[in-house]
Amino acid sequence: MRMNYFILSEKRMYSTAVKLMLDELRKNSKIYDTFAELKTGLLESRGTVVIIGPNSIQDPYEICLEISRMYPLAVVLLLVQKQDIDYKKAMFSGAVDVLDIESDESEVIQSIQKAEKILGLTLKSDKAPKEQEKEAKIITVCSTKGGVGKTTISVNTAVALNKHNLKVAIIDLDLQFGDVSLLFDVQPTRTIYDWVKQSYENGDKSIDDYVLHHKSGIDIFAAPSLPEFAELITGEHIHFLLDNMKTQYDMIVIDTPPSFVETSLVALEKSDVILLIASLDLPALKNGKLAIETLSLLELRDKIHVILNRDSEAEDMTKDIVEDVLGMKIEGSIPSDYRTVISSINKGESFITSAPRTGVAKAIMKMAEKLINGTPNIDGLSRKKDKKRKEWSLFKRAKK
Ligand SMILES: Nc1ncnc2c1ncn2[C@@H]1O[C@H](COP(=O)(O)OP(=O)(O)OP(=O)(O)O)[C@@H](O)[C@H]1O
Ligand SMILES: [Mg+2]
Repeated sequence: MRMNYFILSEKRMYSTAVKLMLDELRKNSKIYDTFAELKTGLLESRGTVVIIGPNSIQDPYEICLEISRMYPLAVVLLLVQKQDIDYKKAMFSGAVDVLDIESDESEVIQSIQKAEKILGLTLKSDKAPKEQEKEAKIITVCSTKGGVGKTTISVNTAVALNKHNLKVAIIDLDLQFGDVSLLFDVQPTRTIYDWVKQSYENGDKSIDDYVLHHKSGIDIFAAPSLPEFAELITGEHIHFLLDNMKTQYDMIVIDTPPSFVETSLVALEKSDVILLIASLDLPALKNGKLAIETLSLLELRDKIHVILNRDSEAEDMTKDIVEDVLGMKIEGSIPSDYRTVISSINKGESFITSAPRTGVAKAIMKMAEKLINGTPNIDGLSRKKDKKRKEWSLFKRAKK
């Protein structure tokens, strides 16, 4: 089994020395100067030993922890300065070993052999069929205004999540005018409607034959082929569908129509995360506020994460105004990039794969990482704000 070696250190002196040693051992290796570049490399690679050398910008143990959580098919070996060796931290961060950068070559080679062994076992178990039942995270993308980018964000988020070796499904709940399958460049042979008519009402309710397996690895549950079929699909169907799919996937992304209908409300209720898409224009803002009010009445406010799409310089409208009006923090923003988005639609390929280096792709990849990490708030900033609010109220109470 051929394994890749990625070396990360902002000090070239160290990474070059490690690379020379790996070259002598005839190992395939590559140097990365920044963690951001290394992450892009990891997304495209299966089976990697990451060697992290001394790093002053970011703590190597923190980098290791993030790799262990986000890239299950990579193992990490830490080569740090003697005074930075901390075995407890190394253990918690998931490193296979931590060594003094000045250790003898034979010691480093021994650790490399250990890393290869562990990686080999990881890859083997990854191939073995998984009997374990899954418990998918459900992410619903919504907004009560049309054309704000729900479908674009749903499709590209699903692809970004899939890049992390997760089993991902996307459900098109825009039952009348859904175009998720169009964005994946597939003509659905079977849809949610066929499942309801043939399997739910007359069969064993099984969904397996009604899911489209896209070449990207994502499973698509497509919207009906005719708008009039939409009314035959009820909240009860979606309830059953999600309970069933939850045990088969790691992540389920749901695209919704630009209004709250029975089926999308069931999805919202069953979601772990609701991505509410906002944009820098007045009608979207007004609708966003109404959507938050409705979701609050349904006690779903805690699940909402506001994402600003087509973030650009807009006269008279700023992020602060949006946050003030919505009464919520913007937790992620996606730049406006008409050319990349349109060209990806025309190609029938997500911009995550066709243009991974663009700002739009990077913004969605970042959002996907945060969704996987499972932080209660997508952006660390909002947590800081909440903390501040708490401190403030405690302060007030203490003064009383
Ligand atoms: N970040 C972006 N930059 C530039 N154009 C974008 C961006 N996001 C979406 N668009 C464009 O905006 C249009 C509407 O996007 P999309 O279909 O995803 O919205 P929607 O909310 O799903 O619409 P609907 O409510 O009709 O389902 C599309 O033409 C898409 O290409
Ligand atoms: Mg749409």
